Amino acid sequence: MAEAKKLFIKTYGCQMNVYDSQRMADALGNSGYVPTERAEEADMILLNTCHIREKAAEKVYSELGRFKPLKAANPDLKIGVAGCVAQAEGEEIMRRQPLVDLVVGPQTYHRLPAMEAAVRTGNRAVDTDFPEEDKFDHLPRGPRAARGPTAFLTVQEGCDKFCAFCVVPYTRGAEVSRPVDRIMAEARDLVERGVREITLLGQNVNAYHGAGADGTWTLARLIRALAKVDGLERIRFTTSHPNDMEDDLIAAHGDEPKLMPYLHLPVQSGSDRILKAMNRKHSAESYLRVIERLRAARPDLLLSGDFIVGFPGETEADFDDTMALVRAVHYGQSYSFKYSARPGTPAAERATVPDDVASDRLHRLQALLTEQQRATQDAMVGRDVSVLLEKPGRLPGQMVGKSEYLHAVHVADATARIGQIARVRVTKSVTNSLAAEPV
Ligand code: 5AD
Ligand code: SF4
Repeated sequence: MAEAKKLFIKTYGCQMNVYDSQRMADALGNSGYVPTERAEEADMILLNTCHIREKAAEKVYSELGRFKPLKAANPDLKIGVAGCVAQAEGEEIMRRQPLVDLVVGPQTYHRLPAMEAAVRTGNRAVDTDFPEEDKFDHLPRGPRAARGPTAFLTVQEGCDKFCAFCVVPYTRGAEVSRPVDRIMAEARDLVERGVREITLLGQNVNAYHGAGADGTWTLARLIRALAKVDGLERIRFTTSHPNDMEDDLIAAHGDEPKLMPYLHLPVQSGSDRILKAMNRKHSAESYLRVIERLRAARPDLLLSGDFIVGFPGETEADFDDTMALVRAVHYGQSYSFKYSARPGTPAAERATVPDDVASDRLHRLQALLTEQQRATQDAMVGRDVSVLLEKPGRLPGQMVGKSEYLHAVHVADATARIGQIARVRVTKSVTNSLAAEPV
């Protein structure tokens, strides 16, 4: 048998890219590739890229430049660009960086084996189609290797919301939900391989409307079905839009014990004027009402959010509204960004806020969000939490995992095993994690 070829994949951006990278490795596994952690020994390098902000997109070109000596040392090395930069820039990538052999958008990963064969014979391959067929149906199942205790599972992809700043509707395409039976089969397979917690992924995951045997299913119904899978102990989902937070999903937070009390619900801004300019299709008030209903269903729900400051037209008063909304919600976790104009999006045409003003607002917002995050974490001390143990800690007899609230927890228990859910008491809160002991 020929020696296995080695595949190095570097993943940027969101969790869906992490999932996609795994599926690309599965697909190329059938073409004789085994994964490597070292780019220097690879026969194929794939960058799975992110286009969400300018900085993320620019990283691709600086990284590609660093592969030049590797290609000089190994003329058989093939280099590919996948993901959202591939979708947005297509062939242009090869013009800007001629050492690239292959460009593949997020919807055509099932065609990778054929593209790989083409580049092996000295051709270049570009595919940025949005095909009718489901890319996941066509991906061959990899060898059933054991998995860690947590996994991502894409259930929905793409977005029809068209927020004025966002490239996702263009790079990932229209909203598509995978059928229920495929998701159930994939979840059961993951559980058989050792997975105890599944995070359901979608750019608009709570807009899920997949085909089931008896009609269209909502995300809540899917979660309830998954909760009946023996051995699957925890379910999470991300990312959600406030307008798709329907009653049945809010109810599930209250009565489905396997659904974890953590919700990422981006709002972007607290100013109705800016929300309108962003085409978010909701107000600050309607967002706060959704949160109120969620907390009525699950009082200990930990909320996480995304924020953009310096959106075109944002005044100091608009920014104050964002600060006020943050104070009203009190977030346990958050991600905040300076607005980045993305080519092809409606907002890219508008006059921008001066960079120093945007930076100053970002600092002030982040100071508040960090304070809230800190306070939320510190408030866990003395409480009992459940921790899904994922790996050994740095100290002997220590394990690390995540609580139901997604806090990283170091558990001092020499008898603990990976994959076990430990009931522990939190003893200490440090910078980015908690320490705990068995109850
Ligand atoms: N500029 C800055 N942040 C952005 N995001 C999306 N597009 C942009 C942009 N053009 C942020 C939003 C989104 C998160 C994934 O990235 O907050 O929720
Ligand atoms: Fe982008 Fe808005 Fe869709 Fe989220 S909801 S992916 S921010 S367009």
